[in-house]
Amino acid sequence: MNLETLIRAIPKAELHLHIEGTLEPELMFEIARRNGVALRYRSVDALRRAYEFSDLQSFLDIYYEGASVLRQERDFYDMTVAYLRRAKADNVRHTEIFFDPQTHTARGIAFETVFHGINNALRDSGMNTRLILCFLRHLNAESAMKTLEESLPFREGIVAVGLDSSEVGNPPSKFAAVFARAQAEGFRIVAHAGEEGPPSYIREALDLGASRIDHGVRCMEDSDLVDELVRRKIPLTVCPLSNVKLGVFRSMTDHNLRTMLQRGLRVTINSDDPAYFGGYIVDNFLAAASALALTEDDIRRLARNSFEASFVSDATKARFISELNQY
Ligand code: ADE
Ligand code: ZN
Repeated sequence: MNLETLIRAIPKAELHLHIEGTLEPELMFEIARRNGVALRYRSVDALRRAYEFSDLQSFLDIYYEGASVLRQERDFYDMTVAYLRRAKADNVRHTEIFFDPQTHTARGIAFETVFHGINNALRDSGMNTRLILCFLRHLNAESAMKTLEESLPFREGIVAVGLDSSEVGNPPSKFAAVFARAQAEGFRIVAHAGEEGPPSYIREALDLGASRIDHGVRCMEDSDLVDELVRRKIPLTVCPLSNVKLGVFRSMTDHNLRTMLQRGLRVTINSDDPAYFGGYIVDNFLAAASALALTEDDIRRLARNSFEASFVSDATKARFISELNQY
């Protein structure tokens, strides 16, 4: 089996995926039309041409604008169904999906409209899935706490809380009280850290109880931190195409994913916002494998890491890994 066939075929988990980042331009236009929302772009092609980003903020500005077409439960449902179909085609067996309620509640959309739309699609898919509620770190801690409280009636459907949006200047410590409350309520903690922000943000996230770090690529600037991440087997959900599109690395050949693997870090490959960054999970594997000369062993390791890093039970992990071992 050649490497590309192996990458496509092996069972894998996706652990870093923003559902609002899966909204493809075609579906965005369709939803905008049925909701009577005007978009700044005249066509799908014009919108796609605008997807040239210089950094995280330049992406976020257009990403929040795209999300503004989502108004009805059906919109969230259709978006989620489209992602799950795409993930299944890539042999994703399990996916842990971020959603950003504040992006919607700030526009007057009820929390339960967002939650039910996404969650009903997960339920109808029959796939193994979990939901992770992300707080927008450019907003204040009071807004995050209010969102956490709004989520409590739905807590059975939400495995963890996370932190996303504009990283630099918004360290995890800004949300210490929110994460303490979330942990007390039984949520697991994850956080975007060390994407554009410094390694100290990764330390802060760990101090606040994060059991997984999203991106985390800048950990390599602090060898004591790397030692700790290796010793504690803290998973890092790396998103190669995203990192290149947002200028975290100049090109895929400059990406540090292979060095991270060689250093013994529990790295996984994910697609982040596939509709904006030019590819789903298999595209991310293929781009990284080709630019970084990843081996078959590396690919198997990455897929195994994805199950080990997931929030499923040990028995389910063992079942997925035994399926993986048949390749
Ligand atoms: N929201 C969606 N994608 C993100 C990313 N890569 N970093 C921070 N916030 C995000
Ligand atoms: Zn992300």
